[in-house]
Amino acid sequence: MKVNLGCGNVRKPGYVGVDIFPGPEVDIVADGRFMPFFKSDSVDVVYASHVAEHVVDLYPLMKEVHRILKPGGRLIALVPYGLRSLYDPNHYHAFNETTFRFFTRNNGSGHEANRSLQRFPLFDEESTRLDSLTQFIRFIPKLQFAIESRPKIAWLVSRAQSTALFRVLPKGRWPQLVVILRKPEANT
Ligand SMILES: C[S@@+](CC[C@H](N)C(=O)[O-])C[C@H]1O[C@@H](n2cnc3c(N)ncnc32)[C@H](O)[C@@H]1O
Repeated sequence: MKVNLGCGNVRKPGYVGVDIFPGPEVDIVADGRFMPFFKSDSVDVVYASHVAEHVVDLYPLMKEVHRILKPGGRLIALVPYGLRSLYDPNHYHAFNETTFRFFTRNNGSGHEANRSLQRFPLFDEESTRLDSLTQFIRFIPKLQFAIESRPKIAWLVSRAQSTALFRVLPKGRWPQLVVILRKPEANT
């Protein structure tokens, strides 16, 4: 089974849509922090696109996602990148490449887990990436600032991204992180 958590108006074929608000594409109305209708270790994939930034307390959310995933199951989380995300009053968190590592164990995959947060070593990090355009611009802070600080240019960039050329960037959202975490197998 696959779950599209915080699905909103998006129907993802093959996924059960869960959202805290009802809607035509929502199969189950529920808070992602409490999903008792899913058995433990029963879900293959939890896909959560632009949801985590809306949840005040991430720990219960991550624990519940961890509970329902099968060992080896994956959380695919898409979140806005960087502090700019906090300009939106509906957003409670800003994310960078390290944020989700607070929920991973130090598994030798190239990063040092933050020891003070190893109370929540729930997952293994499979991958963390910025979408391609962001990845390029991020390393040129002046260019990033030049774009972000000029609403017209920022608007043009977002328009360009909604063209076929940038279809790889979901919904023209930018910049965003795509994080894949895996629930460890029981005996690892
Ligand atoms: C920005 S929308 C993203 C919708 C969709 N995933 C997409 O990519 O377009 C955020 C969604 O998360 C839902 N949401 C917010 N907090 C939630 C929670 N605690 N549990 C489940 N859904 C939640 C909202 O109702 C909303 O539909």
